[in-house]
Amino acid sequence: MRKPKVNRMVFVLGLGCFIMVIFYFNSRLRPEPLGERISGQKLRRNPLQMMYNGDQVESAVQIIHQGRRELLEEACRSYTRKRRVLIPEDLKHVIVDDQHGLLYCYVPKVACTNWKRVLMILTGVTGAHKDPLEIPANEAHVPGNLNTLSDYSTSEINQRLRSYLKFIFVREPFERLVSAYRNKFTRSYNTAFHKRYGTKIVQRHRPNPQPEALEKGNNVSFEEFVYYLVDPATQREEPFNEHWERVHSLCHPCLIHYDVVGKYETLEQDSRYVLQLAGVEEQVTFPASSQNTRTTGDMSAHFFQNISPFYQKKLYNLYHMDFLLFNYSVPAYLKFM
Ligand SMILES: *[C@@H]1O[C@H](CO)[C@@H](O)[C@H](O)[C@H]1NC(C)=O
Ligand SMILES: *[C@@H]1O[C@H](CO)[C@@H](O)[C@H](O)[C@H]1NC(C)=O
Repeated sequence: MRKPKVNRMVFVLGLGCFIMVIFYFNSRLRPEPLGERISGQKLRRNPLQMMYNGDQVESAVQIIHQGRRELLEEACRSYTRKRRVLIPEDLKHVIVDDQHGLLYCYVPKVACTNWKRVLMILTGVTGAHKDPLEIPANEAHVPGNLNTLSDYSTSEINQRLRSYLKFIFVREPFERLVSAYRNKFTRSYNTAFHKRYGTKIVQRHRPNPQPEALEKGNNVSFEEFVYYLVDPATQREEPFNEHWERVHSLCHPCLIHYDVVGKYETLEQDSRYVLQLAGVEEQVTFPASSQNTRTTGDMSAHFFQNISPFYQKKLYNLYHMDFLLFNYSVPAYLKFM
């Protein structure tokens, strides 16, 4: 006599869970509409709605991005243990465009100057400029030109995380690292980086340094830079500089569910996609990249030639998460495998 009752309870509980799951997925996949309904006017859809509720036919680009999101989510599930909550400090790299409903986490050495320029135009801080390349690079990096999500209150942050299109651009981790090294340590004009980091690297990782090198921090080799990165003392002292900090630590891709994971390798196509979703492709064009000074995979291979397998392995371990989360395979030129 008691069995059916238990069965019924199990059924009711099961149904309850099922409904909750449906609600959960619905709320994830179909964010609440944010566009304001202005009387008589059509509801303007924000980029996030464009992306997930798009009634356009599924394009090849959409399928690629869905694949990247799923891979990222799966990698986060497999390789990160405990989920912690986001704190405003985590959001210092997330740039806000309230006019268009965009959140962009900038990663140095992944076309971030050009994305900042584009966002300056979109948010209207540049006044007359309409072509991103008219904005001087140093102006794009002036703090305060663009708002970051960490500047907002908790409820404002949550509202934006829920309803804005969140995007990020990533790059093959070692190519990004070599690009950072070349830019910050091999250009004579970068005296600030030589002084700030070069002197420390020379002092700690060069046997018998010259007094001039100790003072100016010039001529840091890629090898010395690698020793500096893998030395546990380096990160105990202070966080990595953003140019070589891992994307995982800069943008928290396992805590923030990015809608678009753009790649440097397909920069043009992915940038166009974001601007299309934002409905601004007529208004602004993402600058075409100059190919001549760009760091390539071949160049990375060249820089890694002098690094012993032992240090290659240590460095790979350091950037492991960025390889896994963004589907980059171990470079073929590495010798530790
Ligand atoms: C991951 O990378 C492999 C090898 O480059 C590629 O074939 C595959 O399509 C990528 N997966 C996703 C989801 O991007
Ligand atoms: C180090 O760099 C300076 C220029 O900053 C150059 O004149 C000098 O030859 C370099 N020294 C070595 C040992 O490479």
